Amino acid sequence: MSGHVVLVTGASTGFGRLTAESLARRGHRVFAGLRDVRGRNEKAAAELAGLASAEGIDLRVVELDVTDQASADRAVAAVVEAAGRLDVVVNNAGGIFVGPVESFTAEEAQRQFDLNVLGALRVNRAALPHLREQGSGALVQIGSVAARVTVPFSGLYAASKAALAALTEAWHDELAPFGVESVILDPASYPTSIGVNATMPADHDRMAPYGAAFGAYVAALTGHQGPTLGDPREVADAVVRLVEAAAGTRPRRTVVAPGAQHRAVAELNRAADSAAAAVTTDMGVAAFAAAR
Ligand SMILES: NC(=O)c1ccc[n+]([C@@H]2O[C@H](COP(=O)([O-])OP(=O)(O)OC[C@H]3O[C@@H](n4cnc5c(N)ncnc54)[C@H](OP(=O)(O)O)[C@@H]3O)[C@@H](O)[C@H]2O)c1
Repeated sequence: MSGHVVLVTGASTGFGRLTAESLARRGHRVFAGLRDVRGRNEKAAAELAGLASAEGIDLRVVELDVTDQASADRAVAAVVEAAGRLDVVVNNAGGIFVGPVESFTAEEAQRQFDLNVLGALRVNRAALPHLREQGSGALVQIGSVAARVTVPFSGLYAASKAALAALTEAWHDELAPFGVESVILDPASYPTSIGVNATMPADHDRMAPYGAAFGAYVAALTGHQGPTLGDPREVADAVVRLVEAAAGTRPRRTVVAPGAQHRAVAELNRAADSAAAAVTTDMGVAAFAAAR
């Protein structure tokens, strides 16, 4: 395994933090993207720096707010200046807006998409000139099974992850001629900070009619999931495998989920591949779709 230069966004907690640490421990040169390094993430940045010096691993913090194009540009420039190249971007930063779709304003919906969709768009826009020039590299988006299966009270989130999946497919086909891969990893539910960081609708009046159903839903969810959720390291390990896979062999979609859920969503992905072949053939553009 050769050491890759990897930028991981949203590495203060959860999957991003675990992924950054795992990759660095395996000998990669890792840049952990954190927003507000001198404020809300000062402690996380210090912990990552402490880990790097204690274990002698190449793990550096870089300021990166994915909702700000200038921040993404500066972060990518800092990585390329320090490491001389950038091999893999892990677009992990994200969050969930939870509540009935009706209760969210369009502005709140924009914020959900700004983070989960345009965040990756900005970071990839900053990174791609370097990857194309190298003629190699990979974009690894962290999606969700919610992109395939929408459950109540997560409509905005599911829509944002479906949009991220669509962008990933377009990048996949458009970037293949440049030797650059674009793939997405769809995790099931895992216990990270995503729940405590969730954003609720500000319009309590629009929320009120759904109150009882929403409360019952959350109770059912937490009561059922509490004991059954998997270890978030399963997701970090899967990202590590994608990063370390030989160029050109990374699967376009990876599902990380318990048995039956994994099988069902993977089956949907296979069906989508067949549909893509049929649609692009009918449109006469199959030659422009990278191998699936
Ligand atoms: N946990 C699950 O069940 C699950 C399932 C499927 C997919 N996912 C996806 O996995 C990814 C990671 O989530 P997680 O579960 O690990 O949750 P998490 O612990 O809440 O981590 C989210 C990360 O995103 C960062 N972030 C938020 N806004 C940002 C911004 N504007 N710029 C840069 N970073 C920002 C957070 O940083 P701050 O500390 O600064 O807020 C944090 O590091 C997300 O894309 C999420 O949608 C999670």
